[in-house]
Amino acid sequence: MDATELRARLEQVRATATAGIEAAADEAAVEGLRAELLGRSGTVTGLLRGLGTIDPAQRPAIGVLANEVRSAVEAAIGDRLSALQGASRSARLDAERLDMTAPGRPMRTGRLHPTMTVERDLREIFHAFGFEVFEGPEIEDDWWNFEALNIPPDHPSRDLWDTLYVAEPGSWEAGAVRPADDGTILRTHTSPVQIRAMKALTPPIRAIMPGRCFRYEAVDASHGFEFFQVEGLVVDRGTSLADLKGMLEEFARALYGAQTATRFRPGYYPFTEPSVAFDVACLVCGGPGCPACKRTGWMTVLGAGMVHPLVLRSGGLDPDEFQGYAFGMGLDRITLLRYGIPDLRLLMGGDLRFLEQFAEGR
Ligand code: PHE
Repeated sequence: MDATELRARLEQVRATATAGIEAAADEAAVEGLRAELLGRSGTVTGLLRGLGTIDPAQRPAIGVLANEVRSAVEAAIGDRLSALQGASRSARLDAERLDMTAPGRPMRTGRLHPTMTVERDLREIFHAFGFEVFEGPEIEDDWWNFEALNIPPDHPSRDLWDTLYVAEPGSWEAGAVRPADDGTILRTHTSPVQIRAMKALTPPIRAIMPGRCFRYEAVDASHGFEFFQVEGLVVDRGTSLADLKGMLEEFARALYGAQTATRFRPGYYPFTEPSVAFDVACLVCGGPGCPACKRTGWMTVLGAGMVHPLVLRSGGLDPDEFQGYAFGMGLDRITLLRYGIPDLRLLMGGDLRFLEQFAEGR
């Protein structure tokens, strides 16, 4: 290639390349042209290389021209790229425009489980009677759940509490499942919390102890293996069965209304002596008798009694100095009756179509 031809080719690139770059439709097309013109085997690169072959006298002038052409091409590429990027940015801004006047999306608010609504009501009622709330663990051992409550090992009254035992570590994998050596169980009632409260608090004690309990039960419409209780404990000097009776009658009126009829029956629990069962007039028929009260006209609300001296001792208190009463009730049945729920299994089923009907606990 001689100098004249090289000059002509350079002028031609200058005349045509920039127009092509300006017409490139997108960034990829611009990059294609960059490779075609300035790449290792690009047109401009080839022409620059051609400088070495021409008449040395002509080289400076044509060299200046060649550099001008290269700079013009580079500048055109830069201009086109920033134009394309600016356009896509404003296109994106258009597409993503935020309408500040649009109404917000409604937030889904949770609500209390009906059993927890009932629990809160009980907390409120007992709060008014001067009770504090005290909580204990759901996993206990044999001593807390039974022995401290005057229920020795192998005592027949243990049949009242069908127990879920925690397996001895490793025995499950070994295929020879046996109860943990340290007596770890799931608590079958909230009564062990009585002992914890006596150890932690100083008399006079007035405490309620709500919580989840577990029993080895065949599950049906009125039995669950998992349920809720609220325990009550009062320990003071000179406490009598009359205090218990008055307290429970007031409680029934607070929960079910001033006209609520109540009755006490003798009962049996190893940790109270004497023990009573406390009934209210049937919440469905009001007394004459119906299937809900097995035609008796009464419903049992709770078990109660005077704290057994041995139980006071388990709690570290001297039975010659202190007396007390305790009561324990199931929350689930109170909940079923209040809302007319026919099947206990609905409560722990986690079905939102069921749970969303209870707006009360918002
Ligand atoms: N713990 C007893 C039960 O689960 C109820 C109870 C509590 C009875 C306190 C008397 C005193 O059946």
